[in-house]
Amino acid sequence: MKKTNYNKPSYIMLTTAMVAILITTSSTSFVHGFNVIDKCWRRDPNWRSHRQQLAKCSVGYSGKMTNNIGVGDELIKYKVTDTSDDPLNPKPGTLRYAMTHIQGKIWVTFERNMNIRLQKPLLVSSFTTIDGRGVEVHIADGACLMLQRVTNVIIHGIKIHNCKAQTASTVLGPDKKIVNVGPVDGDAIRMLTSYKIWIDHNTLYDCEDGLIDVTRGSTNITISNNWFRTQNKVMLLGHDDGFLRDKNMKVTVAFNYFGPNCNQRMPRIRHGYAHVVNNVYKGWGSYAIGGSMNPSIKSQANYFFAKGGRNEVTWKQESGEVEGNFQSVKDVFANGACFNGSGSGRDAVRPNYTPEQAFPVEDGHKVKELTKNAGVLKCPTSSTC
Ligand SMILES: *[C@@H]1O[C@H](CO)[C@@H](O)[C@H](O)[C@H]1NC(C)=O
Ligand SMILES: *[C@@H]1O[C@H](CO)[C@@H](O)[C@H](O)[C@H]1NC(C)=O
Repeated sequence: MKKTNYNKPSYIMLTTAMVAILITTSSTSFVHGFNVIDKCWRRDPNWRSHRQQLAKCSVGYSGKMTNNIGVGDELIKYKVTDTSDDPLNPKPGTLRYAMTHIQGKIWVTFERNMNIRLQKPLLVSSFTTIDGRGVEVHIADGACLMLQRVTNVIIHGIKIHNCKAQTASTVLGPDKKIVNVGPVDGDAIRMLTSYKIWIDHNTLYDCEDGLIDVTRGSTNITISNNWFRTQNKVMLLGHDDGFLRDKNMKVTVAFNYFGPNCNQRMPRIRHGYAHVVNNVYKGWGSYAIGGSMNPSIKSQANYFFAKGGRNEVTWKQESGEVEGNFQSVKDVFANGACFNGSGSGRDAVRPNYTPEQAFPVEDGHKVKELTKNAGVLKCPTSSTC
């Protein structure tokens, strides 16, 4: 045996130990599939008593959602106990009653597993959290959610599916105001002129039009950890070529799982900016990411698996000389997937996050693991989610 050199500077050993710790830490988070958002609350076995911690976990353009918590006893906790729906005269205990009759900051949970069939679109109020964790809540087979001129909204842990088109209607809106809602096409979640919105860990599928529509100057939005499946048109960011205010639209699309059976628009963007990062795409029909009207898209460290359709991830509408910036940075392409980038280079598509919005981007090879719990989580009683 060789003689040990006891005079070796101890910092080398220290450094070795630190490297070992770093490796252990990162491989632990990898094994549990916890991404930066999930890590912030899912490790707590007492998460039911600390539900509001969730508001501190968002990343990307929504920023932190701490406005949804409030101070002292400012926050109203509301439990949905009644699955019925009356668009004009909602009963106490229903979801619509919470959105219309309760003013101020409200955190909505659900008493038990339930299926809610909305008779007309539900106008979600500002400073509202809809938190389906711990039970299985479906909003399905009727009208679905609309966010119209609202801010500070979290939608977490809801299965929203089979949403149907609706004729024009009159519904009770936030603060008991009567609102005329035009005809809607049947989207799971539709945003109009809304800011600071976080859509996390929902399962969305099979709606008549699309799953998420971000329209009419909406911005500062994070769409994370959702499972999108069985849908032709998945996500539309900007719905109107002529609506120039969407130039300011900023959306983060992170840690989502797309597929199986999604055809197009994951997302499709007009005018604005999308940071599409650390998502898994399990096949697409016509395209995964597309746009028109000079949008900017940074596709970063996603996992694209081509299957059964076109191999090309991208689609750009021919629209004169300006076609936008489509940049792929450290994406992983499998089974023949390819990305046709364009525009004036990487600098043009930096997200320029504030410190509060910024988050570490993971390696594209890890995102299958980090999205494996995308969609509504199963949270067994008295254990981690
Ligand atoms: C969006 O977020 C940024 C950064 O926090 C903020 O400066 C801006 O005012 C927000 N925009 C809107 C419309 O709320
Ligand atoms: C890539 O996109 C450009 C427009 O940005 C288009 O001219 C070109 O034909 C595309 N290439 C392929 C292989 O589709």
